[in-house]
Amino acid sequence: MSDYNIAVIPGDGIGIEVVAEGLKVLTSAAERAGIGLSFDHFPWGAGHWLKHRVALPPDAIETLGAYDAIYLGAVGLPGQVPESVGVGQVVLGIRSGFDQFANVRPVRPIPGCPWYLGHRRPEDIDFVVIREATEGFYCNVGGRFAPDAPEVEDIIALRSAFGESAEIAVQTGIFSEAGCRRVIRFAFELARKRNGKKKVTSTTKSNALTHAMGMWDEIFEQVAAEYPDCEHDWMHVDAMSMRFITNPERFDVVVADNLFGDILTDLSAALVGGLGFAPGGNLSQTGPSMFEPPHGSAPDIMGKGIANPIAAILTAAFMMEMLGEMQVAEAIRAAVTTVVSNGIALTPDAGGCATTEQVGDAVTATIAI
Ligand code: IPM
Ligand code: MG
Repeated sequence: MSDYNIAVIPGDGIGIEVVAEGLKVLTSAAERAGIGLSFDHFPWGAGHWLKHRVALPPDAIETLGAYDAIYLGAVGLPGQVPESVGVGQVVLGIRSGFDQFANVRPVRPIPGCPWYLGHRRPEDIDFVVIREATEGFYCNVGGRFAPDAPEVEDIIALRSAFGESAEIAVQTGIFSEAGCRRVIRFAFELARKRNGKKKVTSTTKSNALTHAMGMWDEIFEQVAAEYPDCEHDWMHVDAMSMRFITNPERFDVVVADNLFGDILTDLSAALVGGLGFAPGGNLSQTGPSMFEPPHGSAPDIMGKGIANPIAAILTAAFMMEMLGEMQVAEAIRAAVTTVVSNGIALTPDAGGCATTEQVGDAVTATIAI
């Protein structure tokens, strides 16, 4: 009998290639630790939509609900399948389907990874971005309207140029008090456990987005008061973008809404050597969590065997950590560190000439349990 049943959704493009390596590493590490894992594969995603006109079957959430965790590669075939279908139904659909509100994206560079900051060393940087993953601007609320549509009557009155436009598009960000509070609390809880720095930095843009982010800022202060043992501060997202580059060592736990968290975590991926090195997971407190690297399906390099599987491998390690299997998680991370820092096998994005498979094999061969 398996200790953990994992639902695997490789998705599209390089998602399929990197998940294969993640599973290879995971299987080997778990076997050595005497932990039984079972994997059921689900072929959902943009490719599935091309064949069957369904990206995610209607009963998918019920099906996935029976698993201990979900391991996802990447979804999307831009140009062939509308993003609202592939990415929208599968990635955003599963995140909201299981209320996976805390998208956790660690920023911990491995020495030997591509390095873009001349003024800092990899060991100076160790923080994590917590991105709210179920609300904000990703709720798909709004629409496109003719300027004389009754829905936009009040909006048209704001500026005369709006009324002269052929079309008005409205995208509404939805921020609930409870949704903001729980993700901010999650950030403080993590800061308590993390590494002794115990510091949470919130980011908004409340000088311009006054309603939603004004509320977020207020809630942040209220929650901070519940954690007097933790330091807290905040900055607008434009300033934070700059600080990620100029002073990345000042961060411990960063908490952001869905949109800014999305943007900031591609920026923070650059601090760990690129999207090929950045792991992540969407945590739920009521259903299975989904572990997926922040990178996309990269159709431009799919099938070439050059995608960097490190992000997916570290994502598998994160999944084991969250399942409570710290030994397996640490063993995978240690093997990745050895492979990357000694340049044993690196894909071209990291300056090497190894294939996706060779990196997976090298990490597997290096696991010591
Ligand atoms: C990410 C991705 C997704 C997101 C897209 C594919 C919807 O950019 O995981 O960061 O924005 O959440
Ligand atoms: Mg993103």
